[in-house]
Amino acid sequence: MTKIEKIVLSYSGGLDTSIILKWLQETYGCEVVTFTADLGQGEELEAVRAKAEMSGVKDIRIVDLRQEFVRDFVFPMLRANALYEGQYLLGSSIARPLIAKHLVGIAQEVGAHAVAHGATGKGNDQLRFELAVNALDPSIKVIAPWRQWNIRSRMQLLEYAEKHRIPVPSDKRGEAPFSIDANLLHTSTEGKSLENPAEVAPDHVYQRTVDPVDAPDTPEIATIGFERGDPVSVNGKTMTPAALLTGLNGLGGRHGVGRLDLVENRFIGMKSRGIYETPGGTILLTAHRGIESITLDRAAAHLKDEIMPRYAELIYNGFWFAPEREMLQALIDQSQAFVSGEVTLRLYKGSASVISRTSPCSLYSADLVTFEESAIAYDHHDAEGFIRLNGLRLRSWAARNRR
Ligand code: ARG
Repeated sequence: MTKIEKIVLSYSGGLDTSIILKWLQETYGCEVVTFTADLGQGEELEAVRAKAEMSGVKDIRIVDLRQEFVRDFVFPMLRANALYEGQYLLGSSIARPLIAKHLVGIAQEVGAHAVAHGATGKGNDQLRFELAVNALDPSIKVIAPWRQWNIRSRMQLLEYAEKHRIPVPSDKRGEAPFSIDANLLHTSTEGKSLENPAEVAPDHVYQRTVDPVDAPDTPEIATIGFERGDPVSVNGKTMTPAALLTGLNGLGGRHGVGRLDLVENRFIGMKSRGIYETPGGTILLTAHRGIESITLDRAAAHLKDEIMPRYAELIYNGFWFAPEREMLQALIDQSQAFVSGEVTLRLYKGSASVISRTSPCSLYSADLVTFEESAIAYDHHDAEGFIRLNGLRLRSWAARNRR
């Protein structure tokens, strides 16, 4: 085995990755480069630099990836209306391949042969990181300390920190905290009392949405503009992808939109319970379906809906950088050529509902559908024949059953 000379670590500056940083330096006796991505998690990232410096890191990378995250990962996923198991908007799942991409990029730049991450051995995130690294650069080794070291309990983790003089914030000293993952798309919370699915989640787990009960009594109206399947404006104001999602998070959060209490099936095999808050994403999904409803052909729309669960599962399971995901993406992207126009929604006490939609590329024909006399040539007798032929096999089937 070749000796590892340099490792790029995905570093949040939190307790776990601070311990991992120390452990890597000790175990491998080599230089560790830290990489911290700003995905809109809302933490002060300059504090991360100070922490890394204190741990003796020379090469500290803190990169603002908010625009790339929303433009190249969240929006392509949104074009598919992707939901895992019918409900989860994949907020953590879609962030991992982006982080992995940059870990690999930095590793290649600095000549590191390994990257490391702080995902545990029980979750989905380890798969997402590692499958992405495999797909992007098979020569790079992945180090997953949580699967390698002898630390088996929270007590041992705190002891290790103590021993190596890694500061433990007071709120991390007692029992294990919630496991939280936040970015511009969502906040996800797992662990502690949430591990009992029979127990109601306490109010304080919610971070970016108000309880719908406490939301304003007056509804708020918002209009989202789409171009070729991607949202580009809110209330007529054109925005960058990251600014648009940030704005909708605020709007949805105030109205209690996008809360989800879910038991899901992890790829690794177990069921887990989590609380998700995806205010902007929920608004965008509803709006996107609204604009598709007038701009997509029926068969195109139904085909998209058929492949959607498969596509969502690929993202959930960590196969973003896999040929089959890219093939499905090509299909989805092609479907979006005419998905342009505006959708107006009403936000009210936890709901985001479409109330109107317009498009220069609309397929909707009032003339065709109207109950009134219509100018368009539509022969009612055609419907009679259409029904007669569709009913042919049903009449044979029913007659046989009666015999
Ligand atoms: N269960 C979610 C997923 O697999 C979230 C995982 C990360 N979240 C967390 N709170 N640690 O996508």
